[in-house]
Amino acid sequence: MCGIVGYIGEQQAAPVLLDGLAKLEYRGYDSAGIAVYNGHEIEMVKSVGRLKVLSELTHDGTTLVGKSGIGHTRWATHGSPSNDNAHPHYNKDGSIVVVHNGIIENYMKIRKMLQNKGYEFNSDTDTEVVAHLLDYYYTGSPLSTIIKVLQRIEGSYALGIMFKEFPEQVFAVRKDSPLIVGHTKDGNILASDVPAVLKYTRSVYFIENYEIVCLEKDKMTFYNIDEDELEKEPTTIEWDVAAAEKGGYEHYMLKEMYEQPKAVKDTIYPSDSRIVDGRVVIKELSMSDEDIKNIKKIYIVACGSAYHAGVTGKYVIEGLTRIPVEVDLASEFRYRSPIYEDNSIVIIISQSGETADSLAALRDAREHGVRVLGIVNVVGSSIAREADSVMYTWAGPEIAVATTKAYSAQLIALYLLGMNFAQVRNTITEDKMSSLIKDLAKLPDQIEMLLASKEKVQRFANRYIAAQNVFFIGRGIDYAISLEASLKLKEISYIHSEAYAAGELKHGTISLIEEGTLVSAVLTQEHLYKKTISNMVEVRSRGAFVLAVTTEGNTEVEKAADYVIYIPQTNEYFTNSLAIIPLQLFGYYVAVGKGCDVDKPRNLAKSVTVE
Ligand code: G6P
Repeated sequence: MCGIVGYIGEQQAAPVLLDGLAKLEYRGYDSAGIAVYNGHEIEMVKSVGRLKVLSELTHDGTTLVGKSGIGHTRWATHGSPSNDNAHPHYNKDGSIVVVHNGIIENYMKIRKMLQNKGYEFNSDTDTEVVAHLLDYYYTGSPLSTIIKVLQRIEGSYALGIMFKEFPEQVFAVRKDSPLIVGHTKDGNILASDVPAVLKYTRSVYFIENYEIVCLEKDKMTFYNIDEDELEKEPTTIEWDVAAAEKGGYEHYMLKEMYEQPKAVKDTIYPSDSRIVDGRVVIKELSMSDEDIKNIKKIYIVACGSAYHAGVTGKYVIEGLTRIPVEVDLASEFRYRSPIYEDNSIVIIISQSGETADSLAALRDAREHGVRVLGIVNVVGSSIAREADSVMYTWAGPEIAVATTKAYSAQLIALYLLGMNFAQVRNTITEDKMSSLIKDLAKLPDQIEMLLASKEKVQRFANRYIAAQNVFFIGRGIDYAISLEASLKLKEISYIHSEAYAAGELKHGTISLIEEGTLVSAVLTQEHLYKKTISNMVEVRSRGAFVLAVTTEGNTEVEKAADYVIYIPQTNEYFTNSLAIIPLQLFGYYVAVGKGCDVDKPRNLAKSVTVE
């Protein structure tokens, strides 16, 4: 969702800004703009559509001459994608310009107040009020002016700000939207996210709420809201540049699917291995055995695919530990006044660590004195920093909007957690534990093997590029797998698809089955095979074409399916990690076959920082 960048230094700013924005494209956007101080004034160029248009308009940034600037990719919230609504926004004489990620919630009130004072607005955005407010409160000191404005605006924001009168400085501030800054070899850079600065530095400063940073050519100064200077420590980013590049693959999504064996392996065995002498050890949990034994209830809260990982987590953790687990969508959880039981914990799962609803759920739990564990991919992100403890998924940077490797790593984190709790609470025998550890260790190679048979899935997918509706069915963990498989297909191919608990289909949805409708059935839970086979027979007898994804050896399924994909044997709790691979490939190849923009599907954002 919206990305901001800023640069000041020895180089020409515009190419640095365009390059930074390109690295933030994955966040999702529909227009873009940059502003550069050209020695006399702040010059702006904006355009609707892809960044390519902005690059063309500025001849790759060469027509905007100047060494300081800010830039923005906009994902429309207030007002349609248009040049007027694109950022940067500016005050009446263009001497103050602003880029913004987030939402100013009280913008209507401020807009009216400013209009009454004669300010004219050029856009429908919430952001424009910030530019005019900066003008209204301008004291001659950028810092004190910014602080005055912060006291008026509500909502979430990461702002990049330039004042024509102070061309040697670029300012940034944040509340609840991500913002990082770093030194480059010849200047300083700011951005919404790490990939935009990786080319220049691996040492970044995470800006906290209400911290203000002033970037100059050769220094950065941090302030709090009382104008006191702050000392901040940088964080070293371990990802290398190649990890955030496409590396010869046609799409990031394909590359990231291929990185799943590594993501899984790194999450089981990070530098501080989570398997030690036949036991699962999660040091970062910082919970004593006593704390773990006392847990009465677990709430898993997340959005999108992270929520789907959570649904699997429920089956695994309940199965292994017998601790009741509730799984909730963060956007629902945060507004339903959840009843927190004593001795409960909340697990927030998030790839980005910035999802607004997940962050709000985390804060609600903490305000109620409930311990929060984050399962997070982006190191140093808001959820990672605000949770009581954080268990990182070591998937590395994920760029494609549709998650694959981060989801796979989230599953592993949940398995490890279930195994660890079971071991501490004595709900698992040693034999069972060692067989689980053995099966876990095999997953990376098994995933690799499934990826190697991609051509077979591709051939099958090619038959379905014209499909109108697809249904995914399964029971238990197979239902959780179906939820994710269905989302993968619909979000990138724009084909309507639904996931159904197999037994629920006959309560209405089966009326949608017509001659040739594709129904994908997942059967990896032995005790449920027969039940799901009956549901396959029901849809097939109504004309459905049935694809089955099942475990090697379950040949019985062939009598009820038109096409079968087998996955290797593993423990019943781990089957999601394998069954999802051909289904991710299926979604991917259908979307490629239809010519869709796989990495940047329409209307979607990777990091959803608004609710
Ligand atoms: C967006 C992404 C999904 C992701 C969801 C939750 O919708 O496109 O892939 O699952 O947000 O994001 P998070 O970063 O919290 O995992």
